[in-house]
Amino acid sequence: MVALKKEAMRVTIAEAVSLLANSSPVAIPTETVWGLAARADDEEGIRRIFTLKNRPPSNPLIVHVDSKTSLEAYVNGLPDEALPLIDAFWPGGLTLVLPVKEGVLPKIARAGLPTAAFRMPDHETALTLIQQTGPLVAPSANKSGRPSATIPEHIEEDFGMDLPILNTPIPCRHGIESTILIWKASKWHLGRFGAISPCSIESIIGYLPLYHAEDRPLCPGQMFRHYAPQARLTLKTTWEQEEAATFDAVLGFSDRSYLKAKAVLHLGPSTNPEPCMYRLYDLLRRLDQHKFSSVLVDIDVPPSPLWLALLDRLKKASGH
Ligand code: TXA
Ligand code: MG
Repeated sequence: MVALKKEAMRVTIAEAVSLLANSSPVAIPTETVWGLAARADDEEGIRRIFTLKNRPPSNPLIVHVDSKTSLEAYVNGLPDEALPLIDAFWPGGLTLVLPVKEGVLPKIARAGLPTAAFRMPDHETALTLIQQTGPLVAPSANKSGRPSATIPEHIEEDFGMDLPILNTPIPCRHGIESTILIWKASKWHLGRFGAISPCSIESIIGYLPLYHAEDRPLCPGQMFRHYAPQARLTLKTTWEQEEAATFDAVLGFSDRSYLKAKAVLHLGPSTNPEPCMYRLYDLLRRLDQHKFSSVLVDIDVPPSPLWLALLDRLKKASGH
């Protein structure tokens, strides 16, 4: 007898609208990574997201809107300084953390904070859905502490076959989460490296967003171990050839050779961070599938801000 692979649950936009109206979370595509959505006005749906993900209640969610007008309904005085960023990067991979009005967003979605995170995804299927449901809160569609999902198979891996996944012909483009900017004391602060580089933000606001690597994290999410495979990752810029053989595998670049390595997984070319970021989460998951327990990671990349998001995720994945 042939064992048939169980079909995962794929839903249409109309089905997603009705599931969301009944407080059932639905996995939705965005251009960065997949999200796990509930309606932003639905406390029960939001509660279910936290339970499904096993997410600490102190880690707030991003509200996904379909326009600047929709954002204005939440924000307690949209600062003028937000407008050029919205014009430049929305729809797109930039999340803005802003003070919110009382009573417009359930406390549970913002973890009790007086601020909330907002972005407008650059994904036609997601935007069509949001136009019908209203704003959706959506953390990344992975179990807490696992790499974000960049393809539907990652969602099935974490949540099984019964979680509804919105059908779309459009894949994630970046493979890494949005960049988070926090408006505080009349300046933009960087809450998370991501899809939009600090340099492109500087070109719009005239300064590099302030970054507090050593301080108390500005994003509650930064406190939790993130993007972590089971394997122990050792990040190195140089090593002796023989040393590579002491690891189960090397995670490196396709234009380099790792002569003594037992196994090699390629992120992409060392000359271009974008395809490397796109593949990172899939490769971190594959390390687990192969049951590697020790992995040498080649981080010998140019000191360019374009590599910062990838290096940030690798550091977190290695437990630093
Ligand atoms: O690309 C993305 O941003 C994806 C897609 C699905 O949109 N979403 C995503 O969500 O990465 P999540 O929940 O995995 O990460 C949201 C981050 C967390 O680190 C959280 O702490 C931060 O946003 N955040 C949310 N509200 C905040 C607030 N009021 N102040 C500071 N950080 C906040
Ligand atoms: Mg996440």
